[in-house]
Amino acid sequence: MPIIANDRTSARFITLEGGEGTGKSTQLKLLSEKLTEAKITHIRTREPGGAPDAEAIRELILSGGKDRWDPVTELLLMFAARREHCRRTVWPALENGQWVISDRFTDSTMAYQGYAQGVGRAAVEQIQAVTLHHFAPDLTIILDAPVETGSQRVKSRGEGNRLDNMDAEFHQAVRDGYLDIARREPDRCVVIDASAPPEAVADAIWQVVNGRFLAMRDCA
Ligand code: TMP
Repeated sequence: MPIIANDRTSARFITLEGGEGTGKSTQLKLLSEKLTEAKITHIRTREPGGAPDAEAIRELILSGGKDRWDPVTELLLMFAARREHCRRTVWPALENGQWVISDRFTDSTMAYQGYAQGVGRAAVEQIQAVTLHHFAPDLTIILDAPVETGSQRVKSRGEGNRLDNMDAEFHQAVRDGYLDIARREPDRCVVIDASAPPEAVADAIWQVVNGRFLAMRDCA
């Protein structure tokens, strides 16, 4: 989690979301490089994880067989990890004026547990309200690609985690879930075609971030 010189007070919280193999980690790194060039103080983090005890919960969630956890337990573990992540990492950084860019956040729980595992929107929203109150990202980039494209990328990297190993129907439900989230929250969410080359995806992401949060500062 790199921390660079602090020169900004209105910190932003940006999340990258998407199904398996959509290139989130690569894009998070590229976004971090662009923010550094723009002299934006920031940290890079991820979920599940992003704080020591949240990483311990990540290990619990992602190891073992497909049926290790029942979907409701999985939902609760995700939010336990998220609360710890926010308390230890995200909130302190934002309070210090640092931007936070995160590989996954609550929309992952909505897409994976809410939609694909069948827990439902209402259950996710209830636990979300208890865990985070009204806290939400300022911007969410949803990287979208056909399920086959993502699965091929994951296979070429070697063995996936517990959830990577779910079947194609599950991953299609995750993709459809994300697109539904984007339709419901068009102000917060921007869908970007992740089947384009990584540099083109990075440029598209930067256009959104720059246009929303930075372009005006050059006119000030
Ligand atoms: P990844 O970040 O390396 O893709 O691995 C995290 C896995 O955990 C991925 O399969 C998505 C899944 N996940 C959920 O099912 N719900 C969540 O809330 C989060 C944050 C991740």
